[in-house]
Amino acid sequence: MKTGKVLVTGGAGYIGSHIVRELNDARRDLRIVDDLSQGHRAAVGDTPLTVAGFADAEFLDGGLDGVDYLVHMAAFCEVGESMNAPAKYYANNLTASLALLEAARRAGVRGIVFSSTAAVYGEPESTPIDEDHPQRPTNPYGETKLAFERALRWYHEAHGLRSVALRYFNAAGAHPDGSIGEDHAPETHLIPRLLRATEQGAEPMSIFGNDYETRDGTCVRDYVHVCDLARAHVRALDALAEERVGAEAFNLGNGEGFSVLEVVDHVERVTGRRPATTSAPRRAGDPATLVASSERIARQLGWSAGHPELGEIIETAWRWYRAHPSGYS
Ligand SMILES: NC(=O)c1ccc[n+]([C@@H]2O[C@H](COP(=O)([O-])OP(=O)(O)OC[C@H]3O[C@@H](n4cnc5c(N)ncnc54)[C@H](O)[C@@H]3O)[C@@H](O)[C@H]2O)c1
Repeated sequence: MKTGKVLVTGGAGYIGSHIVRELNDARRDLRIVDDLSQGHRAAVGDTPLTVAGFADAEFLDGGLDGVDYLVHMAAFCEVGESMNAPAKYYANNLTASLALLEAARRAGVRGIVFSSTAAVYGEPESTPIDEDHPQRPTNPYGETKLAFERALRWYHEAHGLRSVALRYFNAAGAHPDGSIGEDHAPETHLIPRLLRATEQGAEPMSIFGNDYETRDGTCVRDYVHVCDLARAHVRALDALAEERVGAEAFNLGNGEGFSVLEVVDHVERVTGRRPATTSAPRRAGDPATLVASSERIARQLGWSAGHPELGEIIETAWRWYRAHPSGYS
């Protein structure tokens, strides 16, 4: 399936760079806009990259010309930070994103794939979570993502603009060839932090909360390999191009939850070293358990995970970390 010109916002970020790799492998015609606030030029090779804010007036003036499909990844994505700085999240994830959406409509973009999140559900009433589960975010990050998803639905209703919102659970791992991976500053994600905490003399990693109603008191999450997420975007773009979807939302996870302490054990098994950890109080806005049902995307888009095992996911992250202990720098 050919999907014309694709613009990826946030394509130099962690998940974005894996999507760019997947789209390049699928020989799609693509370009990237990223302000490099978190992204890395080295993560995208020679794929055309405009360094700009995706809603900057200078970028929107012409930046969407000839674009057929948009993959909108760029966002701020730290739950904890969003609790302390909601305006920052509303400004980027909602206000700026709405400006992009309107510019996309005006430019005649045919479809949008949007990076949404499990955080739209809030504290789950039942597990695994399917797409019909009530959506009551417990933090501004999830709130802004849900608001943009809803705007996408109304744009389809009003203007016929098709969209797929992919609600990722916890993205993890790195490209199996070890050339691209996760490099955030500061790094808040569990697996890269645990890998770092295996180093001799490393600062212990804080485990936030040990009194949740879970198997061992620590938070349970569904870890999905970043390359599996990337492949779902190709499926979504094809479904948009074939007009098989209107405005849909799909979960993306493996359907299996692991507690923080279970991830610590897996990291020890993969690396042969026990990461240094310490207990810390719960973090505001963190639900106890988030585990996905991804049956809808399996049924409707034919997606399935190629790397569902947590051990394998950690192995790929470890390969990236050993090859790039200081990230891209
Ligand atoms: N990492 C996860 O587990 C996870 C889970 C659910 C959803 N998501 C979503 O996936 C997307 C990517 O997440 P990630 O972990 O790769 O984060 P990331 O920070 O690595 O990537 C985001 C990219 O967007 C860029 N960016 C941010 N604001 C911008 C702006 N205004 N203009 C241009 N570029 C901008 C950053 O420089 C960065 O390269 C986000 O939308 C996030 O909400 C991530």
